[in-house]
Amino acid sequence: MSTPNGATPFISKCDAGTVSQAAQVLLAGHLVAFPTETVYGLGADAQNVQAVARIYSTKGRPADHPLIVHIPSIDLMGQWAQDIPAYAITLARDFWPGPMTLVLKRSELAEDFITGGQETVGLRVPAQPIALALLNEFVKAGGKGIAAPSANRFGAVSPTSAQAVSEEIGEYLADGDLILDGGQCLVGVESTIIDCTGDAPMILRLGAVTAEMIQESTGLEALYKNPSSIKASGTLDSHYQPKAKVLLDVIAVAGDGLIAPDQIPTPDGVIRLASPFTIEQYARDLYAALRLADEKGLEIVVVLQPGGDGLAAAIRDRLQRAAHVEQ
Ligand code: TXA
Ligand code: MG
Repeated sequence: MSTPNGATPFISKCDAGTVSQAAQVLLAGHLVAFPTETVYGLGADAQNVQAVARIYSTKGRPADHPLIVHIPSIDLMGQWAQDIPAYAITLARDFWPGPMTLVLKRSELAEDFITGGQETVGLRVPAQPIALALLNEFVKAGGKGIAAPSANRFGAVSPTSAQAVSEEIGEYLADGDLILDGGQCLVGVESTIIDCTGDAPMILRLGAVTAEMIQESTGLEALYKNPSSIKASGTLDSHYQPKAKVLLDVIAVAGDGLIAPDQIPTPDGVIRLASPFTIEQYARDLYAALRLADEKGLEIVVVLQPGGDGLAAAIRDRLQRAAHVEQ
């Protein structure tokens, strides 16, 4: 989406001035999309019911799906949550700032319009300099946390660049809203979500903080539970979907798009969308490659899944949802 002079509306390059202005914009009840190390978030003041309602309308997301509250440091954990188990503090110390969301028993601050009426709240300290600067400015100016889902339309692919945010939701933003441009996201898939309301951590969404890392940190085994009892959009069977049809682990034919590890050759007539060398690069490039398939108007994108545990498992989780066809 471009204006006649070629500039993209809402997008701001970041300097210290822009970030403190963005904090004021949030406190005034507007939306600010901002970069994190995982994906771009669509932020609103987590205490402002009207601003949070605009997140839902901008995304076209059901209003009973809970939002993650982003905070600048572990020190604010106790404001949003209570009865925090010792292993959750250990995880926060070890992996924050970082690509990890902790689900904890909520405090009074976490109202129903944040938690979707559940008794828990999701908290995260992101490891991205602009996100952290924004959160620090926001709290300095009197705020307590920024609610932010991924900045895509409901069910679509999460954006990993400011341009992708603009393409996803630019037309739904309003005067006063802002997109902070922090370049490409370094991790590329959404945070690991860990339910910390039981005796041991339970993984609700796979991400860059892996089961092995959680076990090493806490000494407790972290099981993966695909939650059905709670509403978590990233855990729906069909999610992260481009317009192109995603086919997994089949042979691509002429006219198809292809996302595959670097050593796999591109068959004649196939349009190569990404050739990652490493698992980290696979995660970082995946969503941009799925977007590229749509930009090129491709009908089919073939994806060869990476093998292995950890981040590779998180990638396969997203790919299976991207490829899911409702029966
Ligand atoms: O990496 C990320 O987590 C990104 C960046 C922007 O921080 N955010 C993100 O938000 O992915 P979202 O809303 O697109 O996905 C968050 C997931 C949703 O599936 C939501 O339902 C779930 O987290 N969630 C949030 N609070 C929860 C809670 N209290 N209990 C269970 N699931 C929760
Ligand atoms: Mg999302």
